Amino acid sequence: MSFKVPRGTQDILPGQSEKWQLIEEKIRELCHLYRYKEIRTPMFEATELFQRGVGDTTDIVQKEMYTFEDRGGRSLTLRPEGTASAVRAYVEHKMFGQPDQPVKLSYMGPMFRYERQQAGRYRQFVQFGVEAIGSADPAIDAEVIALVMDIYSTVGLKDIKLVLNSLGDKETRDAHRQALIEHFQPSIGEFCSDCQSRLEKNPLRILDCKVDREHPLMASAPALPDYLTADSAAYFAKVKMYLDALGIAYEIDPNLVRGLDYYNHTTFEIMSTAAGFGAITTLCGGGRYNGLVEDIGGPDMPGIGFALSIERLLLALEAEGVELDVKDELDVFVVALDDEAKVKAAELISSFRAKGISADMDYIDRKMKAQMKAADRLGAKFVLVLGETELAEAAANVKTMATGDQQKVAFHDLVNYLSRINRL
Ligand code: HAM
Repeated sequence: MSFKVPRGTQDILPGQSEKWQLIEEKIRELCHLYRYKEIRTPMFEATELFQRGVGDTTDIVQKEMYTFEDRGGRSLTLRPEGTASAVRAYVEHKMFGQPDQPVKLSYMGPMFRYERQQAGRYRQFVQFGVEAIGSADPAIDAEVIALVMDIYSTVGLKDIKLVLNSLGDKETRDAHRQALIEHFQPSIGEFCSDCQSRLEKNPLRILDCKVDREHPLMASAPALPDYLTADSAAYFAKVKMYLDALGIAYEIDPNLVRGLDYYNHTTFEIMSTAAGFGAITTLCGGGRYNGLVEDIGGPDMPGIGFALSIERLLLALEAEGVELDVKDELDVFVVALDDEAKVKAAELISSFRAKGISADMDYIDRKMKAQMKAADRLGAKFVLVLGETELAEAAANVKTMATGDQQKVAFHDLVNYLSRINRL
């Protein structure tokens, strides 16, 4: 019997995981600069949280959730996204009452969606996201966008574009919704069954349908920007003004409909424009969700955020041919020639590691030559050889691999010596 990784998931092996770590590190540094504090929530939540939060009529809730009953008969769902969980935690821990407002949260972790597998689309993927809750200031819309643009530029992506839209406020959406119903109703029989049920529940979702994308009524559908109230239009104008002030370029796409129900006002996506990138070009999606906190049982608090997947970020880097500057260095490899030397080697590498010097030795009884080769393959900066003579003299030759220089150093001086030259 042989086992394989489940469909739509992947193993991140050594060689690849260093890239993940580097990206995660850069993201954490930027979160620190922007002051988005990490929140860690469970990987599963009550199913109802997503039904309410993400929306009953969305593809995510209708088709893509990993829902199961636990032994206590509760319906639980592996989180398909992070916003609903972050907002649930915000409400549960009454973060709206803390002095530091708005509450700026970030998270990174696996999300689960039962989607058709294709390049860039996984069933388990890692999202990094932020949520800024408690401010309806257009300046913070620009801040979250600036943060994600910074993330992409810090890792070296160039071929990206920011696409922006406004879904307006409730009044905007109600008027647009009515216009959509009137537009689609007479011919709704020509649409898929999903669209038919969306007509009354959430006609905006029809525009997002993958099946009926080419239907002529799609292109002529009432466009949301035509229904923006004066307040919504003024809000959107301010967001654009802040983006201009920050030097962030954007394209307006009035048809940008996000696949989740909680959005209003600013919505955005960041796409890869790299030639080699596959069919799915969206790297990041986000927007404002005034009303979601209340829907989840909290006070009327506005919010905005985004999420991106590390998988798609890596694919975009690959498509652009960007090599990450991954450091996979080993400071010292200790070659031991007999059992007694091996004990000393173990003792020495432990003292090196205690001082922050990375160190390794042989654990599969290789001959000296093979151990030297291993040291070379691992890219060790220094190699020490321990045999009878070295033990008798309590000193070893430290070979600097880059130059071939050798220096005899007493065992008790090794840590100091290596710390010093390692810094050079
Ligand atoms: P979303 O557009 O569903 O939004 O997902 C955001 C990002 O997650 C996508 O742009 C993509 O990078 C990544 N992603 C989604 N599905 C997959 C998949 N199957 N495989 C790989 N990557 C995927 C949200 O999740 C919202 N919670 C974003 C948000 C936060 N809005 C406000 N705050």
